[in-house]
Amino acid sequence: MTAGEQPPPGSIVGKRVVLRRLEAEDRPRVRAILEEPEVARWWAPRGPDVALDGLFDAEEIVYAIEVDGRVVGAIEYAEENEPDFRHAGIDIFLDSTHQGQGLGGDAIRALARYLFNTRGHHRLTIDPAVANERAIRAYERVGFRRVGIMRGYERDANGGWHDGLLMDLLKGELTAATE
Ligand SMILES: CC(C)(COP(=O)(O)OP(=O)(O)OC[C@H]1O[C@@H](n2cnc3c(N)ncnc32)[C@H](O)[C@@H]1OP(=O)(O)O)[C@@H](O)C(=O)NCCC(=O)NCCS
Repeated sequence: MTAGEQPPPGSIVGKRVVLRRLEAEDRPRVRAILEEPEVARWWAPRGPDVALDGLFDAEEIVYAIEVDGRVVGAIEYAEENEPDFRHAGIDIFLDSTHQGQGLGGDAIRALARYLFNTRGHHRLTIDPAVANERAIRAYERVGFRRVGIMRGYERDANGGWHDGLLMDLLKGELTAATE
């Protein structure tokens, strides 16, 4: 953020989710989510505490995802503000009982609208593991397109490196919610 810019909003409202800035009090609940095998597999290869600390470092802006006042996951963005390459990258996780209901798409649409309309971005990126078919399917449903494979992109729990899929979404390509 540069001088004179508005800080990120405290909350962003979706259709069914509310995104609220992550706070220190959220740590136990978010840690419990990061411990769930279905989330840890993709988000916490070095364990929940490393992933949790990453959410609280200064680099990304992180929101808790709430449904009916309960924290069910988190979504974050990081901006590249170099003018010739300006874009924002996003990432997300939901607890296992809230996956597969379209809530991820709802949260992504809400954050994407903010990044396009308020932050003035023209391009968003997301980079799931190639094997994360559910995530890729969810992102395509929102309008993200497959750009290409990033080989040996991300470290996994056994110390190896697996491929990532770079996906991007240009302003105007965000799909309307159907759910
Ligand atoms: C990835 C994630 C955010 C997607 O959000 P979601 O709300 O669960 O997504 P949706 O409900 O829109 O479901 C996405 C699609 O995947 C499908 N799907 C569900 N489980 C699947 C599976 N195991 N394999 C492939 N597709 C699957 C759904 O049927 C749906 O397809 P459709 O569009 O044809 O109906 C969420 O599942 C999640 O947090 N997963 C665990 C952590 C994670 O992988 N984070 C992403 C890291 S990049």
